[in-house]
Amino acid sequence: MSIQFQPEEKTFTLCTRHTAYQIQIGPLGYLLHLYYGRRAEGTFDYLYRPKDCGFSPNPYELRLDRDWSLDLLPQEYSGSNGGDYRLSSLNLVTDSGVWGADLRYVRHAITSGKYTLPSMPSAFARDGEAETLSIVLGDPAAGVEVELLYGVYEARDVITRAVRIANTGSGVLRLEKAASVCLDLPFGTWDLIHFHGRHAMERQVDRSPLSPGIRTVSSRRGASSHQENPFVLLCQHSATEDHGECYGVMPVYSGNHKTEAEVDQMGSVRVVSGIHDQQFSWKLEPGEGFDAPEVLLAYTDQGLTGLSHLYHRFLRQNLCRSSLMNRPRPVLLNNWEATYFQFQEDTILQIAREAKDLGVELLVLDDGWFGQRDDDNRGLGDWYVNTRKLPEGLEGLIAKIHDLGLQFGLWVEPESVNEDSDLYRRHPDWALTVPGRKPTMGRNQLVLDLSRKEVTDWLYATFSEILRRYDIQYIKWDMNRNLADAYSPALPPDRQGEVLHRYMLGLYALLDRLTREFPAVLFEGCSGGGGRFDAGMLAYSPQIWCSDDTDAIERLSIQYGTSFGYPMPAVGAHVSAVPSHQTGRSTPIGTRAVVAMAGTFGYELDLKRLSDDEKNQVRRQIARFHEYDALLRDGDYYRLAVSAENHAFTAWEFAAPDGSEALVSVVLTHPQANPRPLHLRFQGLDELGQYTLRQEVFGNLVPDDLLHMKGRKPQQVYSGAALMYGGYTLPDLFGDYPSAQIYLKRL
Ligand code: GLA
Repeated sequence: MSIQFQPEEKTFTLCTRHTAYQIQIGPLGYLLHLYYGRRAEGTFDYLYRPKDCGFSPNPYELRLDRDWSLDLLPQEYSGSNGGDYRLSSLNLVTDSGVWGADLRYVRHAITSGKYTLPSMPSAFARDGEAETLSIVLGDPAAGVEVELLYGVYEARDVITRAVRIANTGSGVLRLEKAASVCLDLPFGTWDLIHFHGRHAMERQVDRSPLSPGIRTVSSRRGASSHQENPFVLLCQHSATEDHGECYGVMPVYSGNHKTEAEVDQMGSVRVVSGIHDQQFSWKLEPGEGFDAPEVLLAYTDQGLTGLSHLYHRFLRQNLCRSSLMNRPRPVLLNNWEATYFQFQEDTILQIAREAKDLGVELLVLDDGWFGQRDDDNRGLGDWYVNTRKLPEGLEGLIAKIHDLGLQFGLWVEPESVNEDSDLYRRHPDWALTVPGRKPTMGRNQLVLDLSRKEVTDWLYATFSEILRRYDIQYIKWDMNRNLADAYSPALPPDRQGEVLHRYMLGLYALLDRLTREFPAVLFEGCSGGGGRFDAGMLAYSPQIWCSDDTDAIERLSIQYGTSFGYPMPAVGAHVSAVPSHQTGRSTPIGTRAVVAMAGTFGYELDLKRLSDDEKNQVRRQIARFHEYDALLRDGDYYRLAVSAENHAFTAWEFAAPDGSEALVSVVLTHPQANPRPLHLRFQGLDELGQYTLRQEVFGNLVPDDLLHMKGRKPQQVYSGAALMYGGYTLPDLFGDYPSAQIYLKRL
């Protein structure tokens, strides 16, 4: 049993292989958080000495014990208006205008298996993989019960949390904040790492020490956003990639999110995470309930890489529902950066022929195939084929693509609509707009009101029909603006604060229906690149387009940040043309492939424009990708070096979990005169194993080094210990953005 209840101490202990999490039903039934960290035996209430602290009040019944205060003790789910002045997890208002609830223990249950959240994406468990703890807290005066749910995945070292709030009284309740997690870390000093950015520059890593006050990582854009990814990490100041304590907080949510971290008067840290409370207000009629989204918690003392590995495995094995997540996926060619909107059937077929000849397996037709979609000002919503471009319809094109021996994939953007579209002319009220006000435009488009069932039903009918009618193997599900003007005519005034979350529920229900009905179709999530790269979308789509920035050098930092929380086989990555359409930079095609091979690996350029030599390189790249495919998918990912720190190169590695093989990739980002030796320590190898090493360089070597290489026979066999502790010195790379791949195979 990974969940134990000790009645004498009134403690719940949740154990995973390497961690323990302890909760106690404290005096008066308040639920205290005692411990979360490395696995250890004991009852951790001894850590909390009584303390009489001025201006930290005491519950009425304990008023003569001035040394017991909710304001000082770690809580499992903090309230408001009850004497704990730190971050609250729940803000509710009763219909008589009373704020807050006095939440105390009511009952609990421990069950095998994992709880489910029917309306939202959440982790799943196979037989015996998880246990559930449910603790119900209640406040009869407010008429509310709050069920705290814990899914304990022993072997994975992950604890999932979710919260269910029920109106058990006779009056209406209004939730003004309903977080999913409160995690108190009473001791220690911590750095906060978050992943911020902007369109075409997502998930840049920021690490800074927490200091007194509140830090917030959030999105109010109706999407998890390019600007602030929902994944947040806390680690010791001294934590490195392979050493030190780290906690991860990952909301399984794609809409407005907020993770706050407060350092209080005593130096304790409280983290509260869940749906953003701005423009959120949820009405609960008597008998109604509200589910707050799931959050995935993980702890390790094995450093940042250790924490990444926990999330990578968990998202692949227990969150993404598609069986395609753990299977070989086709090498694709997407026509977007090759043609943008300017194509005819013949253009696509020419690209497809070339692609097939070079070894590509899937042709993706991106934006522009439908309605009057000749540019991005019109046509969204009109999901019927543009016969001027494709005179034989999608049927004709798809048949020809299949005849070439390629699979076929299609771009769609179901959630948006242009004013200039038949759909908008028919249903102007389906777009989110505020009465009496002109809506904001993003890419000259509006957002459909997915909080309305009739809208999601129409979307389901439209896209399930497309998937039934055409022989399609892949869908790119895009969303190219953020939400604004959240107002739904289908909801009464006192429920308008529900629109943004109901939008997400509508989207999830739609994706759930479509992905269940078409399990063989590979869904790739997208939102102007990586604007919704989150665990919620990953539940439905095994890959997500990582960024609209396909410049190989910029991609290094985007993929680096993405790798902290998300598995690399989910990271959509393509080789595109040079000069880069985003930065104007030119990089060798070999380097572009090395970078794309860190993710799903595909192409997005006009192959006809490549030289014969480049085409041969593409053939070899695809062959290499197939050779490494299993390793890239199932290998453990290590961030070996990052140019933001060393100002010279970025390197990463995939190592088979059993140490039998590994692939190290290095990209020179800043060529230097008289450079320092390019030295790396490899990871994840078998210390006692003997490895052969195959090194390929893409781009140039320093001329001197070429001479040396000629004269010197490289060593053939190295021990795993030598490569991990002594490391490896690469040849000096030279010129603009060369790269190297080193493949290691245990003898
Ligand atoms: C978004 C996507 C791109 C492309 C365009 C098409 O920006 O991220 O990959 O599909 O839309 O309009």
